[in-house]
Amino acid sequence: MNAPIRAGENVSHPHIRTELPGPKARAMIARDTLVASPSYPRDYHFVMSHGRGTEVWDVDGNRFLDFAAGIAVCATGHAHPTVVAAVREAAGKFLHISSDYWHEGMTALAERIAALAPMGEPVMSFLCQSGTESVEGALKLARYVTGRQRIIAFLGAFHGRTMGSLALTSSKYTQQAGFAPVMPGVTHVPYPNTYRPLFAGSDQGKAVLDYIRMLFERNLPPMEVAAIVVEPIQGEGGYLVPPDGFLAGLRQICDEHGIFLVFDEVQSGVGRSGRMFACEHSGVRPDIMTLAKGLGSGMPVGAIVAKRRIMQQWKKGAHGNTFGGNPLCCAAANVTLDLVRDQYAANAAKVGAHFMKRLKELATTYPCIGDVRGRGLMIGIELIKPDGAPNRALSDAMLHRAFQNGLLLLSCGVSTVRFMPPLCVTEAEVDEAIVMLRKSFDEALAAG
Ligand SMILES: Cc1ncc(COP(=O)(O)O)c(C=O)c1O
Repeated sequence: MNAPIRAGENVSHPHIRTELPGPKARAMIARDTLVASPSYPRDYHFVMSHGRGTEVWDVDGNRFLDFAAGIAVCATGHAHPTVVAAVREAAGKFLHISSDYWHEGMTALAERIAALAPMGEPVMSFLCQSGTESVEGALKLARYVTGRQRIIAFLGAFHGRTMGSLALTSSKYTQQAGFAPVMPGVTHVPYPNTYRPLFAGSDQGKAVLDYIRMLFERNLPPMEVAAIVVEPIQGEGGYLVPPDGFLAGLRQICDEHGIFLVFDEVQSGVGRSGRMFACEHSGVRPDIMTLAKGLGSGMPVGAIVAKRRIMQQWKKGAHGNTFGGNPLCCAAANVTLDLVRDQYAANAAKVGAHFMKRLKELATTYPCIGDVRGRGLMIGIELIKPDGAPNRALSDAMLHRAFQNGLLLLSCGVSTVRFMPPLCVTEAEVDEAIVMLRKSFDEALAAG
């Protein structure tokens, strides 16, 4: 574990010389500790200097492979030259005009999204800056158009941290603790988990669908439900891929009761799953979709995407913002979507398959890897104790050892280490990461 860095620490004599963070990183973190919110959920002490593709360097000159990609954001890798050139060109023209006006990049982005969207019919987009804002907007749209208030969300879900999206978020109780009351009217149901089944029987997806139908009979009037909001692959909750037929079953329930099906593709979208949108693996079409993270390759841009016949019911002024459609963000998003469509979604599928194979091999030598799962470059390994229980201490230790060995990782769920490298990652980089993982496992397990 890294020694904690205290505010005002005398960094010219760091306690740890052989381990990271190095002296410049320690100095910066000591300054930061005095002035930055302590609420950021930071796991280890990486202080960024610069990056290229999948590689990043810290301020002390140490090189790392970035298999976290800024929480699944840097879709095209760090500082992709085409993205950087597009942002530079846009910045030379104007930095802001507001979504009260029009500009070419903004319209072009909505057109690109319309051409790629999985709805199977014309769509419209509302541009924003983040995942949580896109989820808030989706909730508002669903309530506004249906005239209903209730929402169904899933245990383990992460949809953001503002009061509406936070009401849906339930991957860790710390996200809601201290903030009640959040938006009322949300009913959480289990997300199907085939590795740790909650229900009897082999089809966990059907069991959850039956559970929702039972709720509709007993205490949740379906005619009051505006939307079911679901991640097509559950992200922060543990990188859970739903069983076949589950999303189609949700679609059927929504159709039966006039409920909108909202796919939160903030993390799984824009090529990460090996398809442009993760829902494409199931062929199920949402009514509304939320995007952010990878959309701008790191520039802050999100989108609420909805069937045109739904979004066009918003009256003028029903929803708006100041920064939506920022020209730099649109420039980044336009070239990102082209790069992902033309090469990186396919690369995510190909390199993801290689990565999955290598991780399954690793699991044969490390029994602490209980499950390897995911799609494309959204892959998790669930770490377990000898009795099969989740091993959170080991997943925490792995993040720290991997950092020391030059690999940036994040966790999710209770004890899952997740891998979400840039979509341009190569098989050679995956192989290098596997070597670092082996070393990290050996060290973490030896330390007990
Ligand atoms: C599926 C999903 N939705 C929404 C969000 C919230 O996005 P943001 O942090 O940009 O607000 C996240 C963030 O991790 C996410 O994974």
